Amino acid sequence: RISYYNGQYMNHEEMSIKSGDRAFYFGDGVYEVIRIYDGNFFTFDEHVDRLLQSAEEILIRDVNRAEVVEILHEIKDRNVILNGALYIQVSRGIAPRDHGFPHLTKPVIYASIREAKRPLSLMNSGVEAVTAEDYRWLKCHVKSLNLLANVMEKQHAVEQGAKETILHRDGVVTEGSSTNIFMVKNEVLFTHPANNLILNGITRRVVLGLAEEYDIAVREEGFTVSDMSEADEVFYTSTTQEIIPVVKVDGRSVGDGKPGRVTQQLQEYFNKKIT
Ligand code: PDD
Repeated sequence: RISYYNGQYMNHEEMSIKSGDRAFYFGDGVYEVIRIYDGNFFTFDEHVDRLLQSAEEILIRDVNRAEVVEILHEIKDRNVILNGALYIQVSRGIAPRDHGFPHLTKPVIYASIREAKRPLSLMNSGVEAVTAEDYRWLKCHVKSLNLLANVMEKQHAVEQGAKETILHRDGVVTEGSSTNIFMVKNEVLFTHPANNLILNGITRRVVLGLAEEYDIAVREEGFTVSDMSEADEVFYTSTTQEIIPVVKVDGRSVGDGKPGRVTQQLQEYFNKKIT
């Protein structure tokens, strides 16, 4: 497996990371995860755009788009992985540990690829989720490397035998610890608006596009945990998970406790898009 770090392609196992990399000390950087289906990138430009936007938001300004695009293609082409996930991160750079950052530090890029199967059985059966207070910072639209709150929130689900933690701020559902959350109520699809409180997922955008294309009514509005407990359907989305039905929240069945009709339709439309 060939990966990339700081100007060099190398064997993944032999790679060593610079100790002064600010990603290491501070989680000071941004990242993306991009899907590869049948040897082709899915929603490539959207991911590259978002990577550059995230970098800009945290004042990493010298990221070269052409360089990023080249690295992504090289990593895909130097590895024989037909169905996978490509990870890329941009760190602010390498420097002695100091919170403040000198403006001339050169961003450091890391990229690697792994095989990733579609989670077909979870897509069919649905999963359980739990809820918890969203205590992250107020720039959740930045795909930051600093994921401490997200990993703590995910672990909260894992410890209860659930797959995802649905986060809420004062009762309003924002997103999952690593996914976007949707609910269906009376044939209307609801999801939190794309503001600073959520990551505007690429899969979220694909789903909203499909809803528009197939005439499913959409409201990009916050809804509460209590609204969600009366929803007909709940599901979450992400690059690696696609569209996963949530059939139980905090131990209580959603709707009739099975993946819902609108969710299944969207899964079917999504399938058509990637195959
Ligand atoms: N996670 N919200 C959060 C907090 C996320 O971390 C992610 C993605 C999403 C979904 O975004 P997208 O549809 O663009 O993947 C929403 C990635 C996959 C990860 O950290 O592995």
